[in-house]
Amino acid sequence: MTTTYSSRVPAAAPAPAGVAAARATDLSKVYGQGETKVVALDAVSVEFQQAQFTAIMGPSGSGKSTLMHCMAGLDSVTGGSALIGDTELTKLKDKKLTQLRRDRIGFIFQAYNLLPTLNALENITLPLDIAGRKADKAWLDRVIETVGLSGRLKHRPSQLSGGQQQRVAVARALASRPEIIFGDEPTGNLDSRSGAEVLGFLRNSVRELGQTIVMVTHDPVAASYADRVVFLADGRIVDDLFGPTAESVLERMKSLDARVRTS
Ligand SMILES: Nc1ncnc2c1ncn2[C@@H]1O[C@H](COP(=O)(O)OP(=O)(O)OP(=O)(O)O)[C@@H](O)[C@H]1O
Ligand SMILES: [Mg+2]
Repeated sequence: MTTTYSSRVPAAAPAPAGVAAARATDLSKVYGQGETKVVALDAVSVEFQQAQFTAIMGPSGSGKSTLMHCMAGLDSVTGGSALIGDTELTKLKDKKLTQLRRDRIGFIFQAYNLLPTLNALENITLPLDIAGRKADKAWLDRVIETVGLSGRLKHRPSQLSGGQQQRVAVARALASRPEIIFGDEPTGNLDSRSGAEVLGFLRNSVRELGQTIVMVTHDPVAASYADRVVFLADGRIVDDLFGPTAESVLERMKSLDARVRTS
């Protein structure tokens, strides 16, 4: 069965007062010290609602990856707090944090992070295998078909194109249906058709299954699949847009650019 997802599905009503799947309060991240000190995040406070699809945008170096890494427990924070549900990440010991990442979070890395010795299918089911959980076969088949990997499951990452590796990384994050998925430019290396399919699938998993997704993107069209767009600049949140269209995102980007240039 092939399911096609139209990008014309009407946007869900924004739910600003929903339940937070993840929350940062005054989150700061400083790299290095002295001459090499970089304030990657400057007291960021943000909530990502359950069953909502949020895009994060901003210039290169504005702190998008850092924000997602800190909120997913992949990087330590310098100050403030980060919560998944009501679990405070900064208070967890290593072992608990590893468990939480494995059981409750899906992450699509900017650089895929696939294991070279495993084939595509083994990479996709790796988090489930490590957790000792069985994949829901019907769901796994649907994920694999949607990302268009059915004919490549026995291939290793080195035998796959960049876009195919990215699709393996997307499928891996979706396979276990985690509480929240963070994606760092999950469609950055896909052609527009595969990108649209993956984005449509992500959006439908939010609409139909209540999945929560936070995605970094540089592309206004990709951002328009989301329910909300959060804009970062210099480690701070500078704008927040609900019910985005590609046009309204582009407009916002232009006005932010102009503000930066005149400040
Ligand atoms: N490990 C690190 N050590 C030192 N500085 C870092 C480190 N990681 C990130 N930075 C700095 O922190 C800032 C934010 O980086 P980050 O990777 O979050 O940006 P980004 O918004 O994801 O950019 P891009 O769109 O290029 O991926 C940058 O100035 C970057 O140079
Ligand atoms: Mg980045």
